[in-house]
Amino acid sequence: MEEYSPQEMRRDMEDVRRTLGSRYGRQPLAYVKTYGCQQNVSDSERLMGMLLAMGYAQTDDPHRADFILFNTCAVRESAENRVLGNLGALKSLYEKNPARIMAVCGCMAQRPEIAAKVRESYGHVRLLFGANAPHRLPGLLLRVLAGERVIDTSPPSGEIPEGVPVHRDGRVKAWLPIMQGCDNFCSYCIVPYVRGRERSRPMDEVLSQAQALIREGYREITLLGQNVNSYGKGLGADFPTLLRRLSEIEGDFRVRFMTSHPKDCSEALIDAVASSDKICSHIHLPVQSGSGRILREMNRQYTPQEYLRLIDLARERIPGVHFTSDIIVGFPGETEEDFEETLELVRRVRYTSLFTFLYSRRSGTKAADLPDPVTPAEKARRFQRLLDIQEGIGRSIHEEQVGRVLTVLAEGPGREEGLLTGRTESGIITQFPAGEALIGQFVPVRITKALNWALCGETEEQK
Ligand code: SAH
Ligand code: SF4
Ligand code: F3S
Repeated sequence: MEEYSPQEMRRDMEDVRRTLGSRYGRQPLAYVKTYGCQQNVSDSERLMGMLLAMGYAQTDDPHRADFILFNTCAVRESAENRVLGNLGALKSLYEKNPARIMAVCGCMAQRPEIAAKVRESYGHVRLLFGANAPHRLPGLLLRVLAGERVIDTSPPSGEIPEGVPVHRDGRVKAWLPIMQGCDNFCSYCIVPYVRGRERSRPMDEVLSQAQALIREGYREITLLGQNVNSYGKGLGADFPTLLRRLSEIEGDFRVRFMTSHPKDCSEALIDAVASSDKICSHIHLPVQSGSGRILREMNRQYTPQEYLRLIDLARERIPGVHFTSDIIVGFPGETEEDFEETLELVRRVRYTSLFTFLYSRRSGTKAADLPDPVTPAEKARRFQRLLDIQEGIGRSIHEEQVGRVLTVLAEGPGREEGLLTGRTESGIITQFPAGEALIGQFVPVRITKALNWALCGETEEQK
């Protein structure tokens, strides 16, 4: 696929803006719905940034929107089915007003099977494009506005566009993508097929964007990538160096990052986290399984022992470090013993929280061809056992925080009037009574109570 330059993007945005003016005679509204991971959330911020730059105003009501875009996820079948269901439901909106433009993009749209299905059975969808080139939206939209139905099935491109306008919803926390794609090919995972090969943004771009965000008043920056630990390959840069350079920026802010792959999580990374108060002492380090045999079948390229050594090293070097993880239950051929090993690892690591998934078969991946004799009922039983065990661990970690004073970044109003909510450095949701003036501040909070899902506390000054 040919490169789509920033100049072309800007020229097309201008052309769309003019076309929209004569088509609607008022300001048209755009609605973007995001499925999937933070990468997609971040892509949607760029999609909305371009839409606003082209003259749309944002709406969160699809019924009022002139342009409806679903930015989709392909990682599990359930997510795809939900999108297809929601897309089907849009048909009546289109019939009421065929001037409305319906579009699908993202990881699911990158899959040829899905593109074919949309082409044939979802005639109301006028535009489909894949996950790799969200910045191509202006050029594609221009064609749709000229009457064409555009189903763009080009393979993942190697592009990593700079200069795309971004519209962020929040004023306190910002996502900062540092790389795209994945080269790991874990045997269950669709991401490398839909997002293409790994490529990193130049370090100077990342640093200057971080500086700009901090100047604008953002207090937390989350560096994003499928495997941030291998940042910089081919650029002569590496992730620990990026972290150190970021922590040298002046200002009152903190940095998080996700996701770390255990095979690339180096001692240098652990030391970089340990070396700066600005880097949160929280590592999201997906283990996927505690069984060496299953990890081999998954092509994860580490053993449970190596994983645990990393955890121990991080605990030794980073005082008070917290871990979170992803775990897949019911990978093809997972035996009761394999699953017990996962439970044992979970008990040993004591994660603050876990994202647990039932294995979902993704056609095109290696694992899709493996025999899978375990019944869905048995998988569901294992899943529930893991949830129960994690609930107990999470709860006891929360209880250990009671009496401590933790720094919470106040993000917004809490569940009840008069409360604010935010997260500790380790990522635990914390609620405390305070006025809205404190939103966007780092607040010392004395923890008074532990809930299963959160902490409650009071600001130190109130005591
Ligand atoms: N790059 C990140 C995660 C990407 S997908 C990493 O390597 O950790 C997020 C999570 O979805 C994965 O960690 C995995 O736990 C889960 N996942 C991916 N494919 C899956 C599948 N086929 N079935 C169930 N869960 C899956
Ligand atoms: Fe998928 Fe593995 Fe890549 Fe994560 S590292 S995106 S799980 S292939
Ligand atoms: Fe889903 Fe794509 Fe993220 S498949 S998990 S939205 S990278």
